[in-house]
Amino acid sequence: MIPIIGEPHDRVDGRQKVTGEARYAAENNLPNLAYAVLVTSTIPAGSIAAIDAAAAKSAPGVISVISHLNAPKLPDTGGQQQESNAAEHHHMPFSDDSVHYVGQAVAAVVADTFEHATHAAGLVRVNYRPTPARIVMEEHRSDAKERQGNAPATFSKGDAEGALASAPVKVDQVYRIPYEHHNQMEPHALVAAWDGDRLTVHDSAQNIFTTRQTLAKAFGVPTESVRVMSPFVGGAFGSKGSAWPHVFIAVMAARMVRRPVKIALTRRQAYFSNGHRPLTEQRVALGATADGKLVAMIHEGIGQTNTVCDYVEGFTSPTRSMYATPNVRVAHRVVELDLPSPTYMRAPGENPGMYALESAMDEMAYALKIDPIQLRVLNHADDDPANGKPWSSKSIKECYAQGAERFGWPRRTSEPRSMRDGRQLIGLGMASATYPSHRAPASARAVMHRDGNVDVSSGTHEMGMGTATVMAQLAAETLGVPFERVTFRYGDTTLPRAPISAGSLTVASVGSAVFAASSQLKRKVIDLATADASSPLNGTDPNDIDAADGKLTLKSDPSRGEAYAAILRRHYLDTMDAAADEKPEPNDPYSARAFGAVFAEVGVDPDLGIVRVRRIVAAFAGGRILNAKTARSQYHGGIIQGIGMALLEQTHLDRNLGAFTNVNLAENLVPVNADVRSIDVILVPEDDPHVNPIGAKGIGEIGIVGVAPAIANAVYHATGKRVRDLPITIEKLL
Ligand code: MOS
Repeated sequence: MIPIIGEPHDRVDGRQKVTGEARYAAENNLPNLAYAVLVTSTIPAGSIAAIDAAAAKSAPGVISVISHLNAPKLPDTGGQQQESNAAEHHHMPFSDDSVHYVGQAVAAVVADTFEHATHAAGLVRVNYRPTPARIVMEEHRSDAKERQGNAPATFSKGDAEGALASAPVKVDQVYRIPYEHHNQMEPHALVAAWDGDRLTVHDSAQNIFTTRQTLAKAFGVPTESVRVMSPFVGGAFGSKGSAWPHVFIAVMAARMVRRPVKIALTRRQAYFSNGHRPLTEQRVALGATADGKLVAMIHEGIGQTNTVCDYVEGFTSPTRSMYATPNVRVAHRVVELDLPSPTYMRAPGENPGMYALESAMDEMAYALKIDPIQLRVLNHADDDPANGKPWSSKSIKECYAQGAERFGWPRRTSEPRSMRDGRQLIGLGMASATYPSHRAPASARAVMHRDGNVDVSSGTHEMGMGTATVMAQLAAETLGVPFERVTFRYGDTTLPRAPISAGSLTVASVGSAVFAASSQLKRKVIDLATADASSPLNGTDPNDIDAADGKLTLKSDPSRGEAYAAILRRHYLDTMDAAADEKPEPNDPYSARAFGAVFAEVGVDPDLGIVRVRRIVAAFAGGRILNAKTARSQYHGGIIQGIGMALLEQTHLDRNLGAFTNVNLAENLVPVNADVRSIDVILVPEDDPHVNPIGAKGIGEIGIVGVAPAIANAVYHATGKRVRDLPITIEKLL
């Protein structure tokens, strides 16, 4: 059999994207389309005293001005916990006069063109009754509280405080990560069209089925009456997993003006109403014996949230599972502020948490005077400390070894400021990476046509990860047909149901369903052939039949066989199909996580404090790799975002206005080509028979985890300065 899985096939949607043929949400220009533009609040807390829309209403092209004064009141759709993902379900748009953050939609102008709507939106006068606002997290530390997120907020075993107090070697520090935004290329956009009680939505989304369910609930129509499509997504990184306010507003406006309505957020608007990574302040305290065994781990701290969303930044999640130690206590709490809603952002929880933990581990290695890799190997968790379960597979030691070798770690001299290249201070640092291997229920359908072409479908998402490509590979190899003969359809709620594409679970979930549907389809054709007197395979054992290149062949006698297409034709069948609904086993006896090791080399100008990341070598073990090219691309994307997190990314908050200030791509810095030098990714082979039917762990998010601490640790090695407050900017090093 010619292997298809694992091969570095080009993206099947690549040509459509580079030629502009791919149609994104905002490019759906329906007949009679109207345009909605948001008017957003300028105060962080209080209420709307009055809205003067007279000038806006009489402006050219204006059809309607919508606000809490005339909007229908939408019911609470239930929030994240009820599998309905309205990010702000505690406050549906235009439900009352209350204001919860700067940038909240307080009105929307609907007009015949985007320009008319934009002009008129500027004419809407809103008067507010401001109330004192809570803006600065540090000033409200004492109000921090536990709120259940995806994981319980606390976990403990043994006596962490006692063990820390008596530990011979201790590290106890606080690490901070600022507000960060996703900065995806495509800002949020939606086109909504009603036909009677049927609703069609073109969205840019990570979660079309939940958006459908949420909209059905909000607008009181059957779920089946709502169709959500999102075939192309120009980046999301967690910011498109929820139905944000503009989604409801576009749908509401379309119903009110009886025309299809488009909302395309401006870049500036998207910084306020579509989530961000919240500010976190994390204490990590480690205690160890003199020979480097961890005896205590404490990880606790706070993250920003607000009163209208459910979000909790679960940064202690990785600490529960990462290292073996008898005494652990972790707790993450939230501080509710009058600021925009935070949300998932690439490797939520794990990434911020591992920045703090892996920085502290580096500090511990220096305190103990042992090699940072050795410290991690010494404290390797042979099974999952969070629950005592065995790992489905774990190859972090191979990641350390292969990464260290490729990187040239043995050449490192451990003293800070001990390595130079001309004037440049050179630093080498490393960190571990991990991300849980999630899986959710998913369905798929596979259809074989009599010409031998295969259609596979599942209503999942392609946000640049390579979903469409790897699903076609998986179906092609499972069925034994050429890759070019398979088309994968996705991004539409008329297709079989798929879960949210988040938490790195798309391949594990949808892949398992595609694998099952393809396997069943193959078996159906085999059963047809073996029962068919005219088939050369008649009467043979189905388990003795293999498929490759569109043909079924008897393994024990390769001269006997026939093509799929021939079998369908002889039976006058236009198509044969199979569908599968797959879900993870309840009470899984294994814990499943992907692991990796990240190595960074920085050069620091000793006079100017400028940090350059000269090289990143990262070794990841993510189970079976379906496509080496798209997998590398996923890792590269994560690593580049990690470079941004370490050195550049921060959204500044005006402490008086309660507003984010650098809300454009000129001032919200992300890495550009000049910031990214050499990235070398090692795909560490890993056979995992337990994690799911296809053996693939998710790899969408682990690429960013460990990058910021590896760079921070390298900066310490180069300069002797430990920066515990991201990003590592010039002024912090001078
Ligand atoms: Mo991802 S941040 O879980 O979409």
